[in-house]
Amino acid sequence: MSVERTFSIIKPDATRRNLTGSINQKLEAAGLRIVGQKRLQLTEAQAKAFYAVHAERPFYGELVSFMISGPVVVQVLEGDNAVAKNRAIMGATNPANAESGTIRKEFAESIEANSVHGSDSLENAKNEIAFFFSESEIVG
Ligand code: CMP
Repeated sequence: MSVERTFSIIKPDATRRNLTGSINQKLEAAGLRIVGQKRLQLTEAQAKAFYAVHAERPFYGELVSFMISGPVVVQVLEGDNAVAKNRAIMGATNPANAESGTIRKEFAESIEANSVHGSDSLENAKNEIAFFFSESEIVG
């Protein structure tokens, strides 16, 4: 196993319902350390750029509107196999398909308002962390 860093977002549906602590508890219980964290109101330009990979998807416009509908909490998570571990604790994109005990099964409202985002590869994790954090904001 190797120690990795991954990137996470607690989305507006979750901050609106005051679920930041409940979600962090699940992340920490799974052995992930929150080594960087800040609460932000994303701009439309930031949300569009962050999700640019989905620009051609039919849900892109709605996704951008949703991601700027309230505050988000962006995070750097560190731990053994952090990318895969975070994906496992998040559960499937669509909460209807998520396994019990996962963040999305317990908290997500819909496939769009699905409470959390997590990097899907180590390479994307590096890029997504760099999008929001400077090195000095990450303290392991
Ligand atoms: P996330 O893991 O942040 O990556 C892309 C996001 O698009 C996804 O979570 C959902 O919030 C949102 N989304 C909305 N509709 C869909 C869909 N049909 N398929 C996948 N993602 C969707």
